Amino acid sequence: MAKPETTSEPGIKERLGISFRFLLGFLRPHLKLFVTGLVLLFVSNAVFLAFPYLTGQIINELSGGDPWIIRGVGTLSVLLLVVLTVRAFLSFGQIWLFGAVSNRLSRDIRRRLYGHLLELPVSYYDSHRTGELLSRLSNDVTQLETAVSDVLADLVRQVLVVVLGIAIAVFLAPQLALFMVLVVPPVALGARRLGRIIRDRARETQDLLAESSTIAEETIAGVATVKSFANEQFEADRYNEALHRVLAKAMETVTLRALIGSSIGLLVMGSLILVIWFGATLVDAGSLAVGDLISFVIYTGFIGGSVAGLGNSITRIQRVLGSSERVIELMQMDPEPGLSADVKSDSSRRESRAPAEHPALPPLADALELRSVSFSYPTRPDLVVLKDLDLTIPRNSRVALVGPSGSGKSTIVRLLLRFYELNEGSILRDGTDITGFDLRAYRSCFAVVPQDVLLFGGSVEENIRYGRPDATAGEVRVAAEAAHMTEFVDRFPEGLGTIVGERGVQLSGGQRQRVAIARAMLRDPEFLILDEATSSLDAESEWLVQDALDRLMQHRTTLVIAHRLATVRKADSIVVLDQGTIVEQGTHEELTQVPDGLYAKLVRMQGLGDAVEAPPRL
Ligand SMILES: Nc1ncnc2c1ncn2[C@@H]1O[C@H](COP(=O)(O)OP(=O)(O)OP(=O)(O)O)[C@@H](O)[C@H]1O
Ligand SMILES: [Mg+2]
Repeated sequence: MAKPETTSEPGIKERLGISFRFLLGFLRPHLKLFVTGLVLLFVSNAVFLAFPYLTGQIINELSGGDPWIIRGVGTLSVLLLVVLTVRAFLSFGQIWLFGAVSNRLSRDIRRRLYGHLLELPVSYYDSHRTGELLSRLSNDVTQLETAVSDVLADLVRQVLVVVLGIAIAVFLAPQLALFMVLVVPPVALGARRLGRIIRDRARETQDLLAESSTIAEETIAGVATVKSFANEQFEADRYNEALHRVLAKAMETVTLRALIGSSIGLLVMGSLILVIWFGATLVDAGSLAVGDLISFVIYTGFIGGSVAGLGNSITRIQRVLGSSERVIELMQMDPEPGLSADVKSDSSRRESRAPAEHPALPPLADALELRSVSFSYPTRPDLVVLKDLDLTIPRNSRVALVGPSGSGKSTIVRLLLRFYELNEGSILRDGTDITGFDLRAYRSCFAVVPQDVLLFGGSVEENIRYGRPDATAGEVRVAAEAAHMTEFVDRFPEGLGTIVGERGVQLSGGQRQRVAIARAMLRDPEFLILDEATSSLDAESEWLVQDALDRLMQHRTTLVIAHRLATVRKADSIVVLDQGTIVEQGTHEELTQVPDGLYAKLVRMQGLGDAVEAPPRL
């Protein structure tokens, strides 16, 4: 694991540094736009700070105070409008530039993160929930995007207003400024803290609400189960109880909100009135112009707002920090060993649908072998799934794996595909350990019809084409026919263009299986693996598809897994697996000769006589 082993938690400074460098790495290509935006941000906010001053000067002019360099209410008003217009243009530029940069940044991070996700080993996905990974890809990256577009801009604005605002205030009336700094910022911070109490309470309500949503989500997702057990009332009650809890918590918040909400105004305005009162005594004493007092009060409002906003920004920075750490953590997970080049997901490949190029392996000359393989899944290290297993699959032979459910058949397939690392032993291809090959090149030699077929949400045709993205429409059609798909596909109004629905739910299990078979046929692989490829088919379809599969398996290295032994009897070698070890091996004829053997027992239980050659008819 690439995560550094640290005994003590890294300090906030170090954490900020890591996240900052991470973001900076992604900002680098857009640095020009970003810096321009940053300059505009500074200038537009500085310009904006002239607004209270000019307003004050207009009042001074009216009240006959000391004249300023620019005179006349008309001129001053025009100047004020000019300042605001200039600022509007500058703000436009700044918001646009920051928006452009932050959106590009999130695109770049998502692209890289997704590429990385695809390279993580299967074992990683065994122990992480899809929702969590997707949330990193969407929510956390969105947080990083707002870090650049909003949080940074707000922070700069707030710091600038506080620093420059106080400087101007000191320039206008040093005494009053001291008084203001002592009163306003503490009150602003206090008010914010009170606001946070409400927010924390509101979050508790949110959590309870989320809990209730989980109940609803579960029920809705499993609505068929709910209905089949007639448990609607039970579910309604469960949801109702959750809603009650939400309401109780929400009412606590409501009281608090009323209390705090009403007193915050009093606090904030009270402090402002204190400043005005103190300023008025100065005006009275003749040491401050009325206009300057007005300017001062507006600056005070700005400063107070910015101080409160600064507190807010710090909370948001903490949130951004959490998000960036989650993204960084994922980016640092080790990819599958043996991958040569990164998955390219950049724009240069955006148009191309062609398969990526892999350095091809020399054709299999001899055999694929498992040698003394022991294995347990990383998520369940104590359960030994395969024990010291030896298995040879000679070139162009058909090897069948049979055995009770859970004996480790599909696991062997996963290991052959190098989804997991072995605990002991090795897998050899023509005598070379497969860990020595480029992973993608190695896997490219296989086509698998898996036990649980998963289709992608597009059309039937797209799903078949997944076996070989550059196949022609004609080739797809031929594969579909060979897999006996046309019987059902041609009955759909849209034919091969029919959309299969999310994960293929709009097709039956047997139909999905035939799509997977067509996919494998289109791929025309060196090595074919059929894991219960026809288990969901009725006897007649199975016989038809089996015929096509038999043709596909000819002159091809094949591993067949099946519970229905009729489908494996033609295999060159049948391997009987029980609890992760090979208990018997031989041809159908040989194994049926062993009277107390597992295979013979299974054959007897399935009632397979010697003559099952004729097509079983329904
Ligand atoms: N991803 C996984 N993580 C942990 N354990 C697993 C995982 N997949 C399978 N197992 C366990 O490994 C053992 C072998 O499973 P496997 O899928 O290889 O069985 P199988 O022989 O293919 O069974 P079936 O005939 O039911 O498909 C089982 O005990 C199973 O619970
Ligand atoms: Mg299996």
